[in-house]
Amino acid sequence: MENIKSYVQQHKDRFINELIELLKIPSVSADTAYSQDVIDTAEAVKASLSKAGCDIVETCDTPGYPIIYGEKIIDPNLPTVLVYGHYDVQPPDPMELWTSPPFEPVIKTTDIHPEGAIFARGACDDKGQMYMHVKALEYMVQSNTLPCNVKFMIEGEEEVGSASLAWFVERNQEKLKNDVILISDTGMISNQQPSITTGLRGLSYVEVEVTGPNRDLHSGLYGGAVANPINILAKMIASLHDEDNHITIPGFYDKVQELSAEERAEMAKAPFSLEKYKNALNIADVYGEKGYVTNERNSIRPTLDVNGIWGGYQGEGAKTVIASKAFAKISMRLVPNQDWHEITELFTKHFTNIAPAGVTVKVTPHHGGQGYVTPIDSIGYKAANMAYTETFGVPAIPVRSGGSIPIVALFEKELKSKTILMGFGLDSDAIHSPNEHFGIFNYLKGIETIPLFYKYFVELSK
Ligand code: BES
Ligand code: MN
Ligand code: MN
Repeated sequence: MENIKSYVQQHKDRFINELIELLKIPSVSADTAYSQDVIDTAEAVKASLSKAGCDIVETCDTPGYPIIYGEKIIDPNLPTVLVYGHYDVQPPDPMELWTSPPFEPVIKTTDIHPEGAIFARGACDDKGQMYMHVKALEYMVQSNTLPCNVKFMIEGEEEVGSASLAWFVERNQEKLKNDVILISDTGMISNQQPSITTGLRGLSYVEVEVTGPNRDLHSGLYGGAVANPINILAKMIASLHDEDNHITIPGFYDKVQELSAEERAEMAKAPFSLEKYKNALNIADVYGEKGYVTNERNSIRPTLDVNGIWGGYQGEGAKTVIASKAFAKISMRLVPNQDWHEITELFTKHFTNIAPAGVTVKVTPHHGGQGYVTPIDSIGYKAANMAYTETFGVPAIPVRSGGSIPIVALFEKELKSKTILMGFGLDSDAIHSPNEHFGIFNYLKGIETIPLFYKYFVELSK
C-alpha cells in the first residue's frame, strides 16, 4: 500500500485545514453554554463522513448529545470494523495559560514536534485522532482499497461519562454488530517507538460535602470549640493514604489483579527515563505507592486523588471565619477486577465512618466505569502491530495506560467484541491541559497506518 504515503503527501494541506476547521468549534460537553457548538460539531462530523464515502450517515438522537453513525457495507460476508471516537472536548480553562486561544488553532513547532503541531483544545483528544479515521476512509474509498465493511460511531459526551452512548449501545446491538472495535483516543511511547494500549483503568468519581455548624461563624468566638469542616475535610482526606501511600479504605485492594513477576519484568522493558520524566514536569522527585515503579504506579495500580477542594473565604485580604461547609471532588482510578460500583460504595461507607461527631458528611457519586485489558494474541492486536511495524519501521510495544475510556468495557459486554486502541498522541501533547496540541507527524502517520490495519485484519481473518 505504498500509495497511501503519496496520497497523504498530496493532500496533507487539505487534511490539516479540515481538522483546523473542526477544532474551531468549541464543543465543550461539560458546559451548557457551549451546547449549540457541540451540536454544530456533530453536524460537521456527519458531513465529513458522507464526503469521505459512507453510504449511510445518521444523526442519532439520545437523551443527551447526538451520536453520529456512519457506515459503508461492501459485502455482508466480509468482516466489519467499528470505529469509535468522540467529538466533544474538555473545558479550556485556565484560559490565561494558553499561549494562543484554544479555539483558534495554530501550527507551532516544539522540541518534540520539529515539523509542527496543531495547538487547540481537542487537537489530540480526540478530534485530531478521530479525524485520522475519516481521512483513512477517504483514501480507501478513493483508491478502491477498502477491504471490508466499516461503521463509525462518534459521540459527544465522552468527557462527561458517555451516559448517552451507553443508552445507545444497549438499544442498537444489531446495528453496531462488528468483528473488531478500533479506537484512536490514547497515546504511544514516542514518535520513534510506537505502542499499542492494552489496558485502561476504571474510574469512580465522587464529590464530598462536609457540614459543621449551621452558619459561617466568627473564628475567634467559636474557634477551638467546634469542628471546622475545612480542617476536618483536610484531615479526612490525608488519612486516605498511609505512610507508604497505600489507600486505607477497607477492602479497596481486595479484588485488585496483581501482575506476575514475569509480567512486571516485561513491562520494565519499555523505554523510560526517570530523569526525563522529572525534567518534563519540573519536579525534584516522583511520589507514589511503595513497592512499585513509576510506570506501574500510573497504570497497573489503583489510585485516589483529590481533583478539586474548596470552602471558606477566598476573596481579597483576610476574613476571620469558620465556614459551615467544605467540599472536594475525588477520583479513584481502578484496575482490572475492581468494580466501580463496589468501590464507590466502599468509599462512601469509609468516608462517612471516619467523620467525627461534630460534622455530617454527604457523598455524591458522579460517574465511573470499569477498567479494561485486551490480549495481545488476538487478530486485531496482530493486525495493529503489523500496521505500526510497516509505517514506523519497528514493532509496537504493548503498554497499559493509566487513563480511562469507560465505554470500552461496556462495548465488550454489550457487543461482545474486542477493542484495539491504536493511539497516536504523546503524553507531552498536554491533553486536558492548556496548550493541548497534536503533531503533524502524528496526524499524518495515523492516516497512513490505519488503512494497513484494515488490510491486515482482513488478511488474518481469512
Ligand atoms: N482520551 C482520554 C483517555 C486516555 C488518554 C486514555 C490517554 C489513555 C491515554 C479520554 O478522553 C479521557 O479523558 N477520559 C477520562 C475519563 C472520562 C470518564 C472523563 C479520563 O481518563 O479522565
Ligand atoms: Mn479522549
Ligand atoms: Mn479526554
